[in-house]
Amino acid sequence: MDLLLLNQFLKHHDTDGELIEVIDTLMIACKEIAVQLREGALAGVLGSTDNTNVQGETQKKMDVIANDVLKKVLHTNPLVRGMASEEEDDPVAANEQGRFLVTFDPLDGSSNIDINVSVGTIFSILEAPQGTKGCEESAYLQSGRKQVAAGYVLYGPSATLVLTTGAGVNFFTLAHTGDFILTRENVQVPPETKEFAINMSNQRHWEPAMQRYVDDLLLGKDGPRGKDYNMRWIASMVAEVHRVLTRGGLFTYPWDKRAPNKPGKLRLMYEGNPMSMLIEQAGGLSTTCYGDIMDVEPTEIHQRVAVALGSRQEVEALQEYHRDSADGNAAQLNR
Ligand code: AHG
Ligand code: MN
Ligand code: MN
Repeated sequence: MDLLLLNQFLKHHDTDGELIEVIDTLMIACKEIAVQLREGALAGVLGSTDNTNVQGETQKKMDVIANDVLKKVLHTNPLVRGMASEEEDDPVAANEQGRFLVTFDPLDGSSNIDINVSVGTIFSILEAPQGTKGCEESAYLQSGRKQVAAGYVLYGPSATLVLTTGAGVNFFTLAHTGDFILTRENVQVPPETKEFAINMSNQRHWEPAMQRYVDDLLLGKDGPRGKDYNMRWIASMVAEVHRVLTRGGLFTYPWDKRAPNKPGKLRLMYEGNPMSMLIEQAGGLSTTCYGDIMDVEPTEIHQRVAVALGSRQEVEALQEYHRDSADGNAAQLNR
């Protein structure tokens, strides 16, 4: 088998040379994060810090380490004007003349760190609008449709980069040589599925339309959906999206009524948008339940969004429940 390195693959596909440089830089950081994660307890990187981030969540040691590695490495690339991270209150300026802005979730699924279960780094790359500074929030407030590249690195049994530059989705596996090597090309989400992923413990907080949809899934063959479903919940969006990209499925973290000012748990700029670009590029759908996530016009760097993504026919069925419902009280908040 001919091994195709990430860099060669992108060049063969006429990817913008400067974009390739930024992706290469991101992968330097992700390799460093992968090394630290692999060492785990040996490197003393497990457990929590005494700090909370801007979202009020306790930071794991690895949240901070991964964030610091990404910041340090991205600063070295003159093409990066600035970056915004889940673990930073405000965007961070890098190189004034840089062409790109990068947003990232340094470590997604970090509640899984201490139990040695899959986590990941999610990233999104935008063009910096002319005349803006890398520390200005407004520069980043672009809809998901403006992303020039998006992806994640899943740190699982193997470390896998999943990338789109707007021309399909490809998997690259990190080899012992330190190279990311193409291992799956032009990934397509199967249009149908019998698998869904949702945190069922929040059921009582969901909108009635979501409750009805999940109730019908649980009825299986005996219900209106006419087939038996299986359920998964890893509590790591990267791992869930990777399953969806690999074998189909529906993943959702829906709106719930616990905090009306937070439409969903996931963050638009570094979770919702990059994952939506990957899923759409692979032929799936990604929605707030009322409209495409990538059409949401962001107003804040850390804003939340309801997310439902995956196999086209299943997402369409879910949207149908919301369309039919007279109780779409979350509709305004979601858009
Ligand atoms: P993060 O670790 O970056 O804060 O993100 C965790 C997210 C997401 O990855 C996952 O799908 C979800 O939170 C899990 O939430 P629950 O703990 O409510 O299951
Ligand atoms: Mn996350
Ligand atoms: Mn995170």
